[in-house]
Amino acid sequence: MNSLSEAAAAAGKSVGLTSDTITFTGGRPLNGRIVVRGAKNFVTKAMVAALLGDSPSTLRDVPDISDVRVVSGLLGAHGVMIERDVDGGVIRLDPTNVKSAHMAEINAHAGSSRIPILFCGPLLHQLGEAFIPDLGGCRIGDRPIDFHLSALRSFGAVVDKLPEGIHLTAPEGLRGAKIQLDYPSVGTTEQVLLTAVRAQGLTELSNAAIEPEIMDLINVLQKMGAVISVDADRVIRVEGVERLSGYDHRSIFDRNEAASWAAAALATGGEIFVEGARQAEMLTFLNVFRKAGGIFEVFDDGIRFAHPGTPLKPVVIETDVHPGFMTDWQQPLVVALTQATGVSIVHETVYEQRFGFTDALVKMGATIELHRECLGGQKCRFGQRNFVHSAVISGPTKMHGANIEVPDLRGGFSHLIAALMAEGESTVTNVGIIARGYENFLGKLRMLGAEFTVEG
Ligand code: EPU
Repeated sequence: MNSLSEAAAAAGKSVGLTSDTITFTGGRPLNGRIVVRGAKNFVTKAMVAALLGDSPSTLRDVPDISDVRVVSGLLGAHGVMIERDVDGGVIRLDPTNVKSAHMAEINAHAGSSRIPILFCGPLLHQLGEAFIPDLGGCRIGDRPIDFHLSALRSFGAVVDKLPEGIHLTAPEGLRGAKIQLDYPSVGTTEQVLLTAVRAQGLTELSNAAIEPEIMDLINVLQKMGAVISVDADRVIRVEGVERLSGYDHRSIFDRNEAASWAAAALATGGEIFVEGARQAEMLTFLNVFRKAGGIFEVFDDGIRFAHPGTPLKPVVIETDVHPGFMTDWQQPLVVALTQATGVSIVHETVYEQRFGFTDALVKMGATIELHRECLGGQKCRFGQRNFVHSAVISGPTKMHGANIEVPDLRGGFSHLIAALMAEGESTVTNVGIIARGYENFLGKLRMLGAEFTVEG
């Protein structure tokens, strides 16, 4: 029996996560309609951009996820006044009284998100110094920040690494720079943008990441008064300006969340209408979804994803930077691929350790072998470095319930899908991690007919 009122879920109100342990009864298709709001990987960065303005900013379609709360906390610690309408998805950020935060307030956020590293440029511009706590985020690889620090040094920042975090100053101010990335890192591209917009002179960034979320950050910065051009060859040029104002912006939708629900429909043999999903930003995902046998239909207000009712087909996937197949899409899709007839291959080329989540799937009956070699595509930078970064999935296999533990955000969502697909009961622990990036996921699961009980 549904304990949650459907009306509340439709209105986007959260089902409180009172415990980190949930028991699912699987073996039933997920059917229905859910709404996807703003992208975690854009909204949090746009909130940081508000720091650069000299007047308030308004961001719309903000999801109620814990990463937004972490960034709000850090902004608040730096004197940004925040007004938030959680249900309406509107956040208003007033940076007119930005100040240095107390170390204790900053450290309260240590280890909880990757976003704090993006505060460097804006804080250096506003205050002349920045202190960044230890970073968190998903444990899916080493996740170094060497590109970030090297880019900041190119602008003239002086970086001191302390036991409790990083302290930055800019004794001579920040000047535009010519920067070439070894790899089109999303975070470093954002770091460069957020620093270059108010640095003196011209910045040229080569081998930049061009994910749609980055393009939307550029939209925001342009609204604020920045001058930024993007060439077709991954070169971004920024002409620094002295001042920026606030912005009013509606976020791009969360294409990672949309792809996760699409995979959930395919894995459980169901049909899910994802309101808010758009075709253009999901082109590469949709191609693979179709090749695996999935059915989708694009509408003005969203995309309908469905299982075909016939056996799924195996696919060969290589994750890559945009416009390639996103690394965040592979984990949920792998769950569906355990039901395809034949052998699928996934070559992960963005993170060196993103297959930890497959242990649980194997425990539930999946046949998945992991390899150090680059399988099914180009040689990547992990091939010679002894990282287990290719997966071979043989199907179809019958999945049964098990006790499993959520390892990271996307891997965790894939565990939920697996628990709902498998016959019998599964107890999933550490579920709280999923609230970092999936708004009201329990309410949405209830709306789709999932059966589960939250412990406690
Ligand atoms: N890298 C370095 N040095 C650096 C920065 C990155 O070697 O200084 C490496 C990373 O270790 C990784 C690769 O470059 O192997 C790509 O990392 P990138 O910087 O592009 O990733 P990110 O900015 O840390 C964002 C998203 C990730 C998403 C990736 C790729 C956020 C908060 N996170 O991470 O999202 O997978 O881009 O698109 O935007 C998630 O949402 O679950 C998630 C992990």
